Amino acid sequence: MIKKCLFPVAGYGTRFLPATKSMPKEMLPVVNKPLVQYGVEEAIEAGLTEIGLVTGRGKRAIADHFDVSYELEHQIAGTSKEQFLDSIRQVMSQATFSMTRQQEMRGLGDAILNGRRLIGDEAFGVVLSDDLCIAEDHDGVLAQMVALYKQFRCSIVAIQEVPEDQIHKFGVIAGEKLKDGIFQVTDMVEKPPADQAPSNLAIIGRYILTPDIFEIIENTPPGKNGEVQLTDALLAQAKSGCVLAYKFKGTRFDCGSVDGFVEATNYVYNNFYLKGKA
Ligand code: G1P
Repeated sequence: MIKKCLFPVAGYGTRFLPATKSMPKEMLPVVNKPLVQYGVEEAIEAGLTEIGLVTGRGKRAIADHFDVSYELEHQIAGTSKEQFLDSIRQVMSQATFSMTRQQEMRGLGDAILNGRRLIGDEAFGVVLSDDLCIAEDHDGVLAQMVALYKQFRCSIVAIQEVPEDQIHKFGVIAGEKLKDGIFQVTDMVEKPPADQAPSNLAIIGRYILTPDIFEIIENTPPGKNGEVQLTDALLAQAKSGCVLAYKFKGTRFDCGSVDGFVEATNYVYNNFYLKGKA
């Protein structure tokens, strides 16, 4: 079954400057946990315990976060403060972490291709940690997608309906409905203007990809913004085989934007932290 999950974490996070000048955007805390840890916890919950980080310059704090902080742990050992390390210790005991570096930012497709050496020839998950997904009354979004993969054995993208004025920010799909909330993808466009979008079903940063995607990406020319787009590669895969789009159960916060980040913070604070669940 699927064991590996890639986290492309090389992006600059310009929308959060100056906070992200010398700190990775993935380390911004939503209440008391860095964004990337939420994504890793979601992957672990789905059984994806081999975590691959596609990092870049200035991102060492992410690798350090998932490693022992010897001095700190020694200092607080046996004190009441030790409990604050519980969640990260649990993550570290359940998952392994490997890194590779993306030297130039050439788009999400290129980042995934860089992760190839960490994945090999097997299906894998992808989490864009900017998208914080919370599925309180259900399994996590990746776990929902892994269950679907077991049934269909093809690439899957998570989708949600978005208002028209938001469409241009996303990859957008068109598809034939197979079941409630499950579509077979027939078209896919990266960040189209709303009036040219094939639907209002937007791709959210959770994917299951079959390994033939690597070769497809290699043959995918740069697209939107001159970058190699995963969306374009997935469309090629959909045309030659099958790609599913899955309307997940849960709420997604766009933590790549200040508004979404503040919303996520309020949500986590009220629904988890204040209830002693964070
Ligand atoms: C990426 C993808 C896009 C997807 C989005 C989800 O874009 O290229 O298709 O809809 O993530 O967050 P980004 O937001 O990284 O520019």
